[in-house]
Amino acid sequence: MTPRKIIIDTDPGQDDAVAILLALACPDALDVLGVTCVAGNVPLERTHINARIICELAQRPDTRVFAGQDAPLSRDLVTAENVHGQSGLDGPELWTPQMPVQEQHAVDFIIDTLRSEPARTVTLCTLGPLTNIGAALRKAPDIAERIQEIVMMGGAYFEVGNITPAAEFNIYVDPQAAEIVFKAGIPIVMMPLDVTHKALTLKTRRQAFRDIGNNVGQFTADMLDFFERFDVEKYGADGGPLHDPCVIAYLLKPELFSGRFINVEIETTSALTLGMTVADWWRVTDRPANAMFMRDIDDAGFYDLLTTRLATL
Ligand code: RIB
Ligand code: CA
Repeated sequence: MTPRKIIIDTDPGQDDAVAILLALACPDALDVLGVTCVAGNVPLERTHINARIICELAQRPDTRVFAGQDAPLSRDLVTAENVHGQSGLDGPELWTPQMPVQEQHAVDFIIDTLRSEPARTVTLCTLGPLTNIGAALRKAPDIAERIQEIVMMGGAYFEVGNITPAAEFNIYVDPQAAEIVFKAGIPIVMMPLDVTHKALTLKTRRQAFRDIGNNVGQFTADMLDFFERFDVEKYGADGGPLHDPCVIAYLLKPELFSGRFINVEIETTSALTLGMTVADWWRVTDRPANAMFMRDIDDAGFYDLLTTRLATL
């Protein structure tokens, strides 16, 4: 089978890092054309350093990493060092990456790649705020019909918000970009908090990563030991939600997930509910469905996939 061509747009972040590792661990199934970085969990200059650290950890320094937008389209940047630490990858010992960041701006790389690859053969896997994608669609509206699918981590409905009572972080940081994406007519698969909060980094699962016995397993366990403390303190759960790897796992084993094709719109003006993803789960409006909203996951199968694949790096 020909590997699926993907661009990973990301704001590493420990959970982004695990998603990137999972993708790089599956060259038989996924062809990572590039990793485009965006400001989000931490500022841009940190996200592209972190992305390169992860590529070097995976022994894939050939991966092309691009720096993108350093701020949302029309708002001030909101970051999440309180969750991810000052580096964005707190937990394990880090280093200064040797591999280069590409000269080309991430937005131009996204546009050029979508224009040069055959139409509808490239999937965008977004793990952070949608700023790069929104900027690319604004600069080159013609790319919308050339995107195979956008599989994103973002949004929430029944689970409500994690950065405000109404909004999930990735959407909240850049609601204008999210609105552009959701109104562009592109096939969208959403991994909202409703599903990611069912994929907790239980102590036994973190130990399973450590038991892999390679650098990637140790590094992953160290990252997640740090990453989980925020959600454990907030929700009192055993472990934190492993958000972003759900995007990559969907490409590898879609049967792990279930949801509903519904209408999702973005609140872009209300100060009270800015960034809310208004999901018409019960189809009470006549607004056209525009996103596959995932709500359930086989979490044991998800972690089996992760552990098995990370062991190959
Ligand atoms: O709300 C969770 C999302 O925000 C994840 O992508 C996490 O990495 C942060 O970017
Ligand atoms: Ca992220």
